[in-house]
Amino acid sequence: MKPNSRPSAGRLLYAQSGGVTAVINATAAGVIEAARARGVPVYAARSGILGALHEELIDTGKESKAAIAALRHTPGGAFGSCRYKLKSLEAHRAEYERLIEVFRAHQIRWFLYNGGNDSADTALKISQLGKSMGYDIRCIGVPKTVDNDLAVTDCCPGFGSVAKYTAVSTLEASLDVASMAETSTKVFILEVMGRHAGWIAAAAGLAGEGADAAPHLILFPERVFDEAAFLAKVKATVERVGWCTVVASEGVRDRDGRFLAEAGTRDAFGHAQLGGVAPVLAALVKQKLGYKYHWALPDYLQRSARHLASRTDADQAYAVGQAAVKYALAGMNAVMPVIVRTADAPYRWKIEPARLDKIANREKKMPKHFISRDGFAITAAARRYLAPLIRGEAAPPYDKHGLPNYVQLKNVAVTQQLASFQES
Ligand code: F6P
Repeated sequence: MKPNSRPSAGRLLYAQSGGVTAVINATAAGVIEAARARGVPVYAARSGILGALHEELIDTGKESKAAIAALRHTPGGAFGSCRYKLKSLEAHRAEYERLIEVFRAHQIRWFLYNGGNDSADTALKISQLGKSMGYDIRCIGVPKTVDNDLAVTDCCPGFGSVAKYTAVSTLEASLDVASMAETSTKVFILEVMGRHAGWIAAAAGLAGEGADAAPHLILFPERVFDEAAFLAKVKATVERVGWCTVVASEGVRDRDGRFLAEAGTRDAFGHAQLGGVAPVLAALVKQKLGYKYHWALPDYLQRSARHLASRTDADQAYAVGQAAVKYALAGMNAVMPVIVRTADAPYRWKIEPARLDKIANREKKMPKHFISRDGFAITAAARRYLAPLIRGEAAPPYDKHGLPNYVQLKNVAVTQQLASFQES
């Protein structure tokens, strides 16, 4: 099989992986509409790679054109997602053989895996299957993660929308705190996702500019938490401004590398489940400074807030889906469509293929020059990078009850042809 030769007719399998986003379904719409336009049937795996292993496949051909189009404005993962790590080919050959068996049984020639850096690793492993197992499968990783920590790509679909939600929420909650500060709450703490990278926390910085504008402090996982410096800055801000907004990444760590708030559970990739840094900080503020506080943990609200999606993000999410199909049908393998920024102002971008082995298992953190010297704010360079990503609105249509018109797919199951698979 020549590296860029196009495999003969067959089906395309699409799967969603890892934490879902407000726009991952826009990518699904991009994939399905592009494949339909070329006459290629698309199956989707139920719950990510698990659906492929268990032969739980969905025939997207049973969905109407309108239903697929409505995916562009529907959050969540329409086919289900999972966190599941495929081991190395040597360690777990049975899983790979099973995947090939399922691909063969359903004439899957192209596999598109839509996820973050762990999923890029899974996609890379599957892309190597063709060679080692004598089955012609082309695998494309499709970018997605609110964490914005994928290497090579300028930004990740899903991030622009969570960034917009975070910046808008910081602005709105700060107006609330400012109104009441004289007699009530003095400190508001917003906790955001992001695990090891501070991109989402950084986006809060777009809410205002200058020392007195909220957020007054941003806590990044890239900087060790310094309790004394934190308390001093909160106190100085309250004394000067009258109140203080803090945005903290869930991944903030102490000097010993321990997360300030670790829930105690770990996922299949060994990642700690985080959540709860805001109450830890709030207790500290109360105990050491005596200020009244409120804190908020938007958790899944931030990554599912499709009503506040960024137009730029929604467009990019759709575009990577379309490009992934183009690359797959052109015979490419082990690549990912990435977003390349060609200009900051006016913002311009394009999509290009990048090698999966340059992306898998790498984490892109905030560069040093994006964080201010005192460690509590973003720099002008960060602002230049972030600002275009939250631009534009892409509100979903609303029904007469005042709720967004989100689509629920039929998700018709494909008839199974194989015996069930037992994971060892
Ligand atoms: O996928 C990224 C992410 O949203 C992280 O920012 C967050 O820590 C994690 O997922 C939560 O994962 P889960 O939904 O599996 O608990």
